[in-house]
Amino acid sequence: MRKKIVAGNWKMNKLYSEAVELVDEITIMLKDDIKSDDIVKILIPSFPYLRKVARHSHGIKNLFTGAQNCAYEEGGAFTGEVSAAMIKSLGGTHIIIGHSERRSYFHETHEELKKKVNIVLGQSLTPIFCVGESQEKRHAKEHFSVVEKQISDSLFHLNAAEFGKVVLAYEPVWAIGTGLTATSQQAQEMHLFIRTLIDKKYGKETANSVSILYGGSCNAKNAAELFACPDVDGGLIGGASLVAKDFVTIIHSFPS
Ligand code: PGA
Repeated sequence: MRKKIVAGNWKMNKLYSEAVELVDEITIMLKDDIKSDDIVKILIPSFPYLRKVARHSHGIKNLFTGAQNCAYEEGGAFTGEVSAAMIKSLGGTHIIIGHSERRSYFHETHEELKKKVNIVLGQSLTPIFCVGESQEKRHAKEHFSVVEKQISDSLFHLNAAEFGKVVLAYEPVWAIGTGLTATSQQAQEMHLFIRTLIDKKYGKETANSVSILYGGSCNAKNAAELFACPDVDGGLIGGASLVAKDFVTIIHSFPS
């Protein structure tokens, strides 16, 4: 059975006291919430809050803390960078790699992302690897080839056991933070395409075990429809993860 996952990407939001308030609100709601026990929930704050969020999340079943990025080097003279090992030492278990904001604003390349994936797996942490096409590429009907290249360039050097440890997130760039959500048909179509790619490369067992999340204006209102798609295993949530009640509603949006 594939893991159902809801991850909240807080991006560069919240001051320290606000982040503590948010994690406390979320944990109060999840504490005795048996129906979300089997869902993997990941809170992904900015680096400075990671330790605090990890501590406050402690003791709640399947609640983890992640980071939004990491360095592609293991450590050393890289001023301003944060290593995967440091994230692990603070209690982080998951790291987002290749978010479209990192790809576009910080010009991260396939080669760098590949190195980051290796570093994250090397620390026995879980990469949440993001893929997705721009509006322009979708209009040009190149969305499948863009996503295929993003996956093959940065992930297909892995062996099946390693690939099985990756979580994928399909985030069409035109849907991120825009209020424009992919329809459930568009999401399902791309998720199935990704799963078929994995099947061709690694076989059915790996393809059926990898969780593929949808991200891009997923919120408390549309999550249920998206999560009902057979190949959508959860969501990577931006804006709506900053409101505890909405985030928990999203966690409750899987079909029973
Ligand atoms: P959004 O962001 O939910 O605010 O669109 C999703 C993401 O970028 O991970």
